Amino acid sequence: MSSSLQAVKDSVTVPAAGQAALLQMLLAVQDASPENYVSEEAVNEIAHLLDISRSRVYSTASFYSAISLKPRGQHIIRVCINAPCENAGKQAVLAALEQELGVSLGGTTADGRFTLEGVSCLGACYMSPAIKIDKQLYGDLTAETAVAVIRRYREGEAIGHTA
Ligand code: FES
Repeated sequence: MSSSLQAVKDSVTVPAAGQAALLQMLLAVQDASPENYVSEEAVNEIAHLLDISRSRVYSTASFYSAISLKPRGQHIIRVCINAPCENAGKQAVLAALEQELGVSLGGTTADGRFTLEGVSCLGACYMSPAIKIDKQLYGDLTAETAVAVIRRYREGEAIGHTA
């Protein structure tokens, strides 16, 4: 059994299989996936275990931007694209990230290590422009410091501060 499917089985101990439980399962499956996504196989398994339709699982997964139905990189880089970050220099940070990674917004690096995504507000407006890599926030960024963060990840060292 794949680690993703094991996560499904583990999650099914959640007593009420309501919308919150379904979301929790989807996130657990995604977290257990090396490619940071919910596969069709996992959707089928969740639908079967909860005795709900596949379309309900798909519609829930599609509704939440935090969930992906497509394979992504090992690390998810989320760039805030809302006005406060835009006004604080987001464009320079994004351009530097795209150049450093060799991908545009929405892309995954050829080595599968990073996916670059745009999101609406990370809840870190006080340190705009901000990005989030996996669960770690980085703020008050410049093009140079954003690139430095990525290079530290490449070297296997996660740095930064949490909100
Ligand atoms: S607007 Fe960018 S973190 Fe809130």
